[in-house]
Amino acid sequence: MAPPDLSAEEISRRLETMRFGRVLQIHDAVTSTNDLARQLAEAGAAEGTAVLAREQLAGRGREGRPWVSPRGGLWMSVVFRPVLPVADWPLLGFMLAVSACAAIDAATGLRTGVKWPNDLMLRSRKLGGVLVEATPAYAVGGVGINANVDPDAFDPAIQKTATSLQAIAERPVDLNRLAAAMLLTIEQNYPRLIADKTWILDEWRRRSVALGRQVQVVGATTVDGVVEGIDASGALLVRTADGLQILRVGDVSIRLIPPQGSRG
Ligand code: BTN
Repeated sequence: MAPPDLSAEEISRRLETMRFGRVLQIHDAVTSTNDLARQLAEAGAAEGTAVLAREQLAGRGREGRPWVSPRGGLWMSVVFRPVLPVADWPLLGFMLAVSACAAIDAATGLRTGVKWPNDLMLRSRKLGGVLVEATPAYAVGGVGINANVDPDAFDPAIQKTATSLQAIAERPVDLNRLAAAMLLTIEQNYPRLIADKTWILDEWRRRSVALGRQVQVVGATTVDGVVEGIDASGALLVRTADGLQILRVGDVSIRLIPPQGSRG
């Protein structure tokens, strides 16, 4: 049976929050939910205002990349007005990533992970991502999850590296339940970030799929080494042949070490 369509009424009925998602907009098709959330924030929207869309026509990913957002996915943006030092605002992305993982796990029984900086991972493939766009007055946190997306709908460039909940669970997930669960985990984790970022960073480390693994990080330069963790600012720490590298941008790919005795 097809799961119920994304609906403000259904999400509100399941919502256990005081603030996050109490102002909620659901759209059929938008350019990007981040665009709408930014417009609402500019017009004075309260922290916790959430915007969801069934489809995004110009979804954005990190580093200005397009984010393919067909029907079936969970495309959501939330307005924040953080009382955090500006240097800590990037940690909003880490908070959103661990919140999304906890919500997905609760709604599906699966076990998701994170890959630096904020990729949501399932069975070694990318399931979703986080995009935080900040101004001095507010930040918009966008989360995209390939929930009920048919992997055939993925861009050919990511067919081998992306996945969806439906593909792994072999049944569609209830998007309304997942959205309500995400708003709850955000409401629980955001105050933790404000009070003391340690919990969020530790939770992120617990979910990290690359910790202790041999990786290649492609950014301004290409760095090969072993991931030692993240520092208090969220930078990635990679031990290379030349010493410890502290990386602030880049894409991480985990390298498979060939079994001993194999060639090439
Ligand atoms: C990434 O991994 O590159 C980040 C992807 C973020 C996608 C979400 S979907 C909801 C929100 N609206 C957007 O246009 N982008 C974010």
